[in-house]
Amino acid sequence: MSLIRLVEFPVIPHETGSLSVYEQSDKIGFDIKRIYCLTRLALGAARGSHAHRALRQVAVCLSGSCRFILDDGKTREDVVLDNPGIGLHIGTYIWREMKDFSSDCVLMVIASELYSEPDYIRDYDEFLQVVKA
Ligand code: TYD
Repeated sequence: MSLIRLVEFPVIPHETGSLSVYEQSDKIGFDIKRIYCLTRLALGAARGSHAHRALRQVAVCLSGSCRFILDDGKTREDVVLDNPGIGLHIGTYIWREMKDFSSDCVLMVIASELYSEPDYIRDYDEFLQVVKA
C-alpha cells in the first residue's frame, strides 16, 4: 500500500480568484486542533526530518510547490504538492522530509494535536528502532 494518501478539498473558482475550503469532516480523519503554516522558505531549505508518535496531519500547499518524502522505515515515497485542492495525509510514525520549495510556497498543515515536543522523534536511527520494535 502506498504511503501517499491524498485528499481533495473543494476549490471554488472565480474570475477574481479562487477560494478553497478546509473544514472538519471525515476527509480529515481527525478532530482539527491546530493549523500552522510554513512561509518565506529559504531557497534550498530542507524541513521536517522527524516523525510523530501521536500527531496526525494533512499538509496542503496553498501557493507554489514543494516535495514531501515519506518513510515508514520500510519504504520511502515522494510526492510534489502544488494544488490548494489537494492534501497529503501523514499518519503516526511516518518520517517526513520536505524540500524543493518554490519561492512562493505557502505550506499549511492541519494537525490533530497541539504542539508537543515530546511527541517528536527527531533522530532517524531512533525512528527505525521504534518502528521495527
Ligand atoms: P518543526 O516541527 O521541527 O518544523 P518543520 O517540520 O517545518 O521543519 O518546528 C520548528 C520549530 O518550531 C521547533 O522549534 C518547534 C516550533 N514549533 C512550535 O513552537 N509550534 C508548532 O506548532 C510547530 C509546528 C513548531
